[in-house]
Amino acid sequence: MRVVIAGGHGKIALLLERLLAERGDQAVGLVRNPAHVAEVRAADAEAVVCDLEATSAGAVTVLLTGADAVVFAAGAGPGSGVPRKDSVDRGASVLLADAAGQAGVRRFVQISSMGAGQPPRTGSDETWAAYIAAKTAAEDDLRGRDLDWTILRPGRLTDDPGTGLIRLAPPPVPAGAVPRADVAAVIVALLDEPGTRHQTLELVSGDSPVAAAVRDLT
Ligand SMILES: NC(=O)c1ccc[n+]([C@@H]2O[C@H](COP(=O)([O-])OP(=O)(O)OC[C@H]3O[C@@H](n4cnc5c(N)ncnc54)[C@H](OP(=O)(O)O)[C@@H]3O)[C@@H](O)[C@H]2O)c1
Repeated sequence: MRVVIAGGHGKIALLLERLLAERGDQAVGLVRNPAHVAEVRAADAEAVVCDLEATSAGAVTVLLTGADAVVFAAGAGPGSGVPRKDSVDRGASVLLADAAGQAGVRRFVQISSMGAGQPPRTGSDETWAAYIAAKTAAEDDLRGRDLDWTILRPGRLTDDPGTGLIRLAPPPVPAGAVPRADVAAVIVALLDEPGTRHQTLELVSGDSPVAAAVRDLT
């Protein structure tokens, strides 16, 4: 399987690239910063420099052509302000989905966030509100497309080692944390299970093995 990952140098993306490579799949990481190419290659993935805020759907279509699946793993990140929540967390996902449609790559896994799909908590600061609005708009855009999409909303991400034990279900799932390593493992399992298409799923740590949790969704 050839899987193109937008935000290819992100923490989840690097873990996902290694998992895919270990089982013989080809991961392609789209990175914004040319200095990140070496680390993506060290994860046994192909690296392509592509700033999703400064390119076109046509150019990304070329990069996606021949892929079996696309994963949106980019994000403006904690240090960013309101405009980049819109240009990355919403805009880059919409651009990637446009390109997937044009390239004929139907399978699309989008990393969203718990909290999307509802108004931000009362008292949230404007950056959090913009983030939740951007994630919600990206999800809504994807649901309207003729693609085999799955929307994955993890809870608070940690860098703890993966446990392989999760709670994965349609919303609402009670708030919680989840290691990035387990998010990467869930994405691999979702890519393997086309029956999870057209589902919006929330993910936190739990007590179900990843494979069983994904199988139970179909
Ligand atoms: N933090 C949390 O608790 C939490 C919870 C739920 C969901 N999420 C979501 O989970 C996803 C992945 O999380 P993560 O921790 O793996 O993220 P991360 O390490 O911050 O990685 C995000 C990646 O996106 C890249 N990116 C930003 N702008 C880009 C652009 N214009 N073109 C191409 N790539 C671009 C970044 O590249 P640069 O290094 O060049 O900026 C970075 O490598 C994000 O969508 C995040 O919003 C986070």
